[in-house]
Amino acid sequence: QINIEFDEEAKEVAAQKLKIGIYFATWWALNVVFNIYNKKVLNAFPYPWLTSTLSLAAGSLMMLVSWATKVAEAPKTDLNFWKALLPVAVAHTIGHVAATVSMSKVAVSFTHIIKSSEPAFSVLVSRFFQPEAFPPAVYLSLLPIIGGCGLAAATELNFNLTGFMGAMISNLAFVFRNIFSKRGMKEGKSVGGMNYYACLSMMSLFILTPFAIAMEGPQVWVAGWNKAVSQIGPNFIWWVAAQSIFYHLYNQVSYMSLNEISPLTFSIGNTMKRISVIVASIIIFQTPVQPVNALGAAVAIFGTFLYSQAKK
Ligand code: 3PG
Repeated sequence: QINIEFDEEAKEVAAQKLKIGIYFATWWALNVVFNIYNKKVLNAFPYPWLTSTLSLAAGSLMMLVSWATKVAEAPKTDLNFWKALLPVAVAHTIGHVAATVSMSKVAVSFTHIIKSSEPAFSVLVSRFFQPEAFPPAVYLSLLPIIGGCGLAAATELNFNLTGFMGAMISNLAFVFRNIFSKRGMKEGKSVGGMNYYACLSMMSLFILTPFAIAMEGPQVWVAGWNKAVSQIGPNFIWWVAAQSIFYHLYNQVSYMSLNEISPLTFSIGNTMKRISVIVASIIIFQTPVQPVNALGAAVAIFGTFLYSQAKK
């Protein structure tokens, strides 16, 4: 009897591990595709406020169609759910637009090297806003993260302050987003990861649209769009569609995993995801990298690994 129960339990654990493994692999693959098309679009059409709005619009539309056609079941939400979602949506909007502005100014790899220091931001935020103290090893692991990012930034050939600050702001905003999301997901238990992210996209779209119009506006968009289509050809429209759709898909899968795992496991998965994005984008965009620059990135990422071990 005990053996059978033990077997059943072991099977369940293995199935759960497999499920998380599949989520992670899908999340990283979708994210690499998003990053490549996003940068291709930004190179030809440098209007990050519009491209970030389009990503949210594509996701919102896809989910509304899925609900209407019953491909996915629409969530049952109340006013309290949307109230709890508001801070998450504000943080998501800021983090998303800041990362896109960053990628419009610097190499994708540079944005992601800076973004690999997100765990350091998470410790700092917890220190100030939650009565949680960490063991000294956690604080020590921040040294290689911060030092490595600093070295990578200082030796970046195409350093740009807006690009750097965008990635830093995105780090801070996403730490808040993850803390608020995990809390919000607990409260609105009936809304699973996929629908939670759908509602988040819709609210963020609502918040971002007026700012995008104020920051860039239809006039520059039309002129820029015509220019991009004349340079690239009709394929440009497919690039925009790909970056928008893949943005939604990778985030949706990441939220489906956040539903199953702790924020710490999530942030480790996220940093490992950046390694694939950094490598893929350096190869595809032939980004020039100096050895000392690569060393900075490697130290920062290794620091994140140490951080995850120390925090365990
Ligand atoms: C965005 O546009 O939201 C960023 O590219 C996302 O960054 P992430 O890799 O932290 O999801």
